[in-house]
Amino acid sequence: MKLVLASKNAHKLVEMKDILSQLGMEVVLESDVGVDVDVEETGATFEENAYLKAHAVMEASGLPAIADDSGLCVDALNGAPGVYSARYGGPGLDDAGRYKLLLENMRGQLDRRCKFVSAICCCFPNGDRVEARGECAGTLAYAPKGEDGFGYDPIFFVPGLKKTFAELSPEEKNAISHRGNALKAFREKLETYLKK
Ligand code: IMP
Repeated sequence: MKLVLASKNAHKLVEMKDILSQLGMEVVLESDVGVDVDVEETGATFEENAYLKAHAVMEASGLPAIADDSGLCVDALNGAPGVYSARYGGPGLDDAGRYKLLLENMRGQLDRRCKFVSAICCCFPNGDRVEARGECAGTLAYAPKGEDGFGYDPIFFVPGLKKTFAELSPEEKNAISHRGNALKAFREKLETYLKK
């Protein structure tokens, strides 16, 4: 099955392509099928935003399209930055600027619980949709650590492994990450859908 990956985030593309290819799916990029859509992420939930992205690319390409919307939710900040993770602090900040701001906003806070969330939506040209969600619980580190990954990885600490996401290999991260979990759930739902 050929799926168009509706994302321009190079790091997410690598992670999703890795996992979906292992599931035996042929993954092509928007650019491979001559599609370049800019979708405004106006949804209030990860699920809504994933749908907006997948639906727009499916319409533009005429092929099944899959999108992920994800972010970091911090308990002590009532779930922020949440769906605003990519835009936290405004357009002037890069990944490091955003996690530094988050650490600053969490200064003195002892409750460091947080989770990554990923919502995946696959839209088919016949109007059908297959959706899945994955989470990964962790705690917010007090200082960044590790060189790998992207986004908030250097400050997302996994207590069970005693490492941040940025200290894990891609395989280690995919095995426990929100996106890895969402993609596993997605595979099961897709298999059920395809049998119908
Ligand atoms: P999206 O492209 O709108 O889904 O933005 C997701 C944002 O959430 C990214 O830009 C990152 O800041 C953050 N994010 C999502 N998944 C991860 C991850 O696996 N590691 C680190 N940051 C992530």
